[in-house]
Amino acid sequence: MNPPVETAMVAPPRGRPAWTAAAFILVFALHWATPAGPHEWHWLHLVAQKMLFLPVLMAAAWFDLRRTLIVTALVSAAFGLHIAVQWSGRPMVQAEQLAELVNLWIAGPASWAFFRAERLAAERLRRAHADTLLTVVSSLELREPYTAGHSRRVAAYSLLAAEKMGLRDPAFLRLLETGALLHDAGKIGVPDVALLKTGALNDEEWEAMRRHPQSGASLARGSDALEGAAPIIAAHHERWDGRGYPAGLAGEAISLGARIVAAADVYDALTTSRPYKRAFSHDEATAILREQSGAALDPRVVEAFVAVPFRALAETAARHGVTLRVDEGIRENILGK
Ligand SMILES: [Fe+2]
Repeated sequence: MNPPVETAMVAPPRGRPAWTAAAFILVFALHWATPAGPHEWHWLHLVAQKMLFLPVLMAAAWFDLRRTLIVTALVSAAFGLHIAVQWSGRPMVQAEQLAELVNLWIAGPASWAFFRAERLAAERLRRAHADTLLTVVSSLELREPYTAGHSRRVAAYSLLAAEKMGLRDPAFLRLLETGALLHDAGKIGVPDVALLKTGALNDEEWEAMRRHPQSGASLARGSDALEGAAPIIAAHHERWDGRGYPAGLAGEAISLGARIVAAADVYDALTTSRPYKRAFSHDEATAILREQSGAALDPRVVEAFVAVPFRALAETAARHGVTLRVDEGIRENILGK
């Protein structure tokens, strides 16, 4: 379940407090460096005075209301000190300058409210987009009832593996999730006779089946929002040793996202039952992943995947309709981890 849109607005991203502090220092340094009173640089003093809005607007754009008010108060205090010290003995000028502070106290909270409305609208749009994507994925899975939830589990497992690999770039993680959700979207073009067949496929059926990564990638390329995920979709059946399809790419020539999705795809296929096989236990599945390390799968991805705590995988699986199990003999070892 998603958190409410309101609380989805996060703490300021790294670096932004530093940029705001830098703007604050720069503006006041400029203001103090061009003293009050008559001199030929007075215009610069006035420009610096108008630039007081800069740190306040940065705070309004990036932070919550409390931090915006704190920055506004700090700017007001520093400016007040400047008025008291540098304009002492000129009460009329002091009054005029103090009135300037009122503008700051209007601009800070008002811009914060505008920026917040923008952020909420963007967040709602992002969620609507994500919901549409999930609906498309669910409708694709209606054709193969036994794979219900497969794409969502592959997406969630891929994110767990990526986290273990220390991959934190939000843009990469978004593409990874989208690519994983849509990795089998191209199966919409595979005829039922091949898609739903439980026995061995003949050559023609195999050929139709092997086209699904490319078809899925072309579907994604048709949308600006999904285009970045196309390389993941196109390469999710490539193998680390170069014996996969459709392009026979090997090693790091396969996009990292596709290598992660490939491992998650294998793990989910193994741990769920299909008409032609039982569901393997977590231990059996991770043993097979290890066997495939350096063959079908990227060793670095396998290493990360098998290091994901069983509990995290099991909770994810349960959210999407699958109960993962561990073998009796080592149940306690794994659950104790
Ligand atoms: Fe696939």
